Amino acid sequence: MILNVTGMTAVVVGGDARAAGQVTSLLDGGATVTVVAPEVTASIDDLAARGQVVWTRREPEPGDLQDADIVLRGHASEPSDRILGTGSVTLVGGGPGDPGLVTVAGREAIESADVIVTDRLAPLAALAWARPDAEIIDVAKIPGGRSTSQDDINQLLVEHAKAGQHVVRFKGGDNFVFGRGGEELLACFDAGIEARIVPGVTSAIAAPALAGVPVTHRGLTQGFTVVSGHVPPGHADSTLDYAALARSGATIVVLMGVRTLGAICAALIEGGLPATTPAAVIADGAMPSQRVVRATVATIDAEAAAAGLGAPAVAVIGAVADIPGLNGISA
Ligand SMILES: C[S@@+](CC[C@H](N)C(=O)[O-])C[C@H]1O[C@@H](n2cnc3c(N)ncnc32)[C@H](O)[C@@H]1O
Repeated sequence: MILNVTGMTAVVVGGDARAAGQVTSLLDGGATVTVVAPEVTASIDDLAARGQVVWTRREPEPGDLQDADIVLRGHASEPSDRILGTGSVTLVGGGPGDPGLVTVAGREAIESADVIVTDRLAPLAALAWARPDAEIIDVAKIPGGRSTSQDDINQLLVEHAKAGQHVVRFKGGDNFVFGRGGEELLACFDAGIEARIVPGVTSAIAAPALAGVPVTHRGLTQGFTVVSGHVPPGHADSTLDYAALARSGATIVVLMGVRTLGAICAALIEGGLPATTPAAVIADGAMPSQRVVRATVATIDAEAAAAGLGAPAVAVIGAVADIPGLNGISA
């Protein structure tokens, strides 16, 4: 599955959701990737914005391909005319980014799907497992950028299933961990659609694990709490009790907290957490670009910012972030 294309230059002609899968496979394999297409799907747009691919925004020209080691055409075959029966929706958790962390059940669902509705943080290289005639729809929500509303996504799932198609809703991590999986399942049930769940490996546990940070460790902590940092402490929409978290003795795992990490750490210290408590940030966990920064709860925000770490990232606060013998692991 992982291509060995280290150091090669690749050109992907076309920018649809299937091309996004090819781009991700090439990046995972170590290639430098240029996408040539007048329009691209949201996931490729996001990779270009994050500097991971170059997007040449026009129709391809002969000179584009001359110096490339690899040229791929990111076009799907036309969907075939199939005899359709009763449709269904399968929510598949894709894990944090490495297609090797998709479950066997997740892979089987992708291989047999008529329609795959994907997100930006799903391991898009796994789309190579899709049938050539499967329709792939990218509904990535990019912070501050393109997005498809949740109502529209629910409607897409339901409409395709009502038309007799087997739909996979493919997301990063686990669909039920800040993944709107419950809402999508309810939308299916409300519409009388058969739906099932293939749980995924959540980044909340996997990204720290890959950096040598076990969220629990005998003798250090008897539990962990996963929180969303999408709004800072004190914000009108925040429902978390940071003082209680500070006193809990549990490891604190923060998702969606790159922008708010400083405020979260300050609230935890104010709530009584010692300023010397170890902390780590793991960005792009399970991806070739994975990076790890370790510091204390007092300094982690500044250290992560100084190292240029950005979303997607998981922050871990607690003694587990600095276990001698494990704290040198970075990928
Ligand atoms: C909307 S939440 C979805 C979480 C996902 N359902 C899961 O279980 O991993 C998105 C957040 O998950 C975290 N995340 C997802 N993939 C990640 C990765 N590969 N490395 C680090 N953090 C990741 C980041 O905190 C990101 O902002």
